[in-house]
Amino acid sequence: MNAKAGPLTPSEIDVEEFRKVVRSRRSIRRFTDETIPADVLDDCLELATLAPNSSNLQPWEFFVVQSPELRKKLATACLNQNAARTAPVLIGIVARTDTWREHARQALAQWPEETLPGIVEKYYTRIAPIHYNQGPLGLLGVAKKTAGLLVGLTRPVPRGPYSATEMKIWATKSTALAAENLMLALRAHGYDSCPMEGFDDCRVRKLLNVPRKGLVVMVLAAGRRAENGVYNRQYRFDKQTLVHYL
Ligand SMILES: Cc1cc2nc3c(=O)[nH]c(=O)nc-3n(C[C@H](O)[C@H](O)[C@H](O)COP(=O)(O)O)c2cc1C
Repeated sequence: MNAKAGPLTPSEIDVEEFRKVVRSRRSIRRFTDETIPADVLDDCLELATLAPNSSNLQPWEFFVVQSPELRKKLATACLNQNAARTAPVLIGIVARTDTWREHARQALAQWPEETLPGIVEKYYTRIAPIHYNQGPLGLLGVAKKTAGLLVGLTRPVPRGPYSATEMKIWATKSTALAAENLMLALRAHGYDSCPMEGFDDCRVRKLLNVPRKGLVVMVLAAGRRAENGVYNRQYRFDKQTLVHYL
């Protein structure tokens, strides 16, 4: 087993198994009453956190709701969508724009190799604190943007994140990848999900006790699909109009 690359060599990976998982994942709108076993749910959340993420700063959090009382309230806040009303588990998937500093510290403290490369130490102690910090009233962000515009005239430079809004996009990108890992992991275990952005953000935040700088990227309904849980056949637009080989 190669600890760096993971246990599997390419020849051990079966693309058809992957295809089965991806192709059978659907957004399920009605679930059975069956609960998801704790070990399965835990494994899916673990696999979710293996998603690629910006600078390995892991800017996500998962708020898992299983109690009937809180689920009912949360389903109401999810506009009483069938998926939310029937799912035995609802998971608030939250992006955090404010954990990067502490996570940069943890990235160094938990570095998994014997020696910490100088470049890694430099990144988390000197570069990240400037790159992700927008400063009081976002003024550092404005200064970085201005400097970037000038220096960018003659050479490639990073073009952000330069504001609180860009930090939200930054955190959401990685969190959405974790959400997809979670959905696929559930499917691989034989369970199903429905990602939902149709919810009352204020009410969901309050019910889940989401920190001020947390952004509810989606609420995921999860469980076992009911027979009438798929509303229509899956379809996608013509790939030729959306994929550009340059
Ligand atoms: C960010 C996001 C938000 C979504 N919000 C909802 C929602 O609120 N309610 C719902 O029923 N489906 C929701 N969906 C599911 C989409 O409607 C669904 O993915 C799309 O129709 C394609 O169907 P499929 O997932 O079965 O392939 C959402 C999906 C994503 C990725």
